[in-house]
Amino acid sequence: MKIIASNFKTNHTRFSTKEYCTNLEGFLNNLKTSHQITIFPPSSALLENSFKHFKIGAQNAYFTKNGSFSGEIGEEQLEEFKIKTLLVGHSERREIFKEDQQMCAKKFQYFSALDYEIFYCIGEPLNIKKKGKEAILDYLLAQLDGICLDYSKLIIAYEPIWAIGTGISASLEEIELIHTNLKQKLGKIPLLYGGSVNANNIQEIIHLNNVDGALIGSASWKLENFCQILKNSQGV
Ligand code: 13P
Repeated sequence: MKIIASNFKTNHTRFSTKEYCTNLEGFLNNLKTSHQITIFPPSSALLENSFKHFKIGAQNAYFTKNGSFSGEIGEEQLEEFKIKTLLVGHSERREIFKEDQQMCAKKFQYFSALDYEIFYCIGEPLNIKKKGKEAILDYLLAQLDGICLDYSKLIIAYEPIWAIGTGISASLEEIELIHTNLKQKLGKIPLLYGGSVNANNIQEIIHLNNVDGALIGSASWKLENFCQILKNSQGV
């Protein structure tokens, strides 16, 4: 069993998300996969988390039930859709929206106390990658500050920033090296890889030692591509 998730980012409308998810449900009725699948639509397109073969998660939420936080959604808005899965710390939130480690940790702490499954993202920029393995690991471990690694519903996604949306994933050697080193710290916590995963490389990536699945952006936004990814990941 692997964990395979699609992050829609700022793509798809409510209408197209419904269509995508309805058709994905139909596809998975026939595929009979053992993988655990999650779809993260944008906030405006959240759907009730009531599909049989996959979960609906949110890409972001603020650490509040409700209140005066313009532009944010909180627990109450997720509860309406029975959503209990949340992405925290994606590099686009950290880099573009300047979410610091304290903010990521607060989100983790708030939603883990509510028993949410949390996909927590870490990943280094190119300038850190160039400094070598020890610098990369130091950077990644600092992104785990304030995160309780004993939390049973924690999933970590290693997404090197330089591989996101570029069409060029990290090499198999790079992925295995970082995952193997991270696993020494993470123990049994599932560890996903993300960054230009597609139908052509999914199988070799999720076969690697210490890779428990994939978090996929652009290659999953068209349903037919995501279905092909799921087909190609069978038998792992
Ligand atoms: P891409 O698959 O488009 O590289 O995006 C990865 C990602 O950021 C998933 O969260």
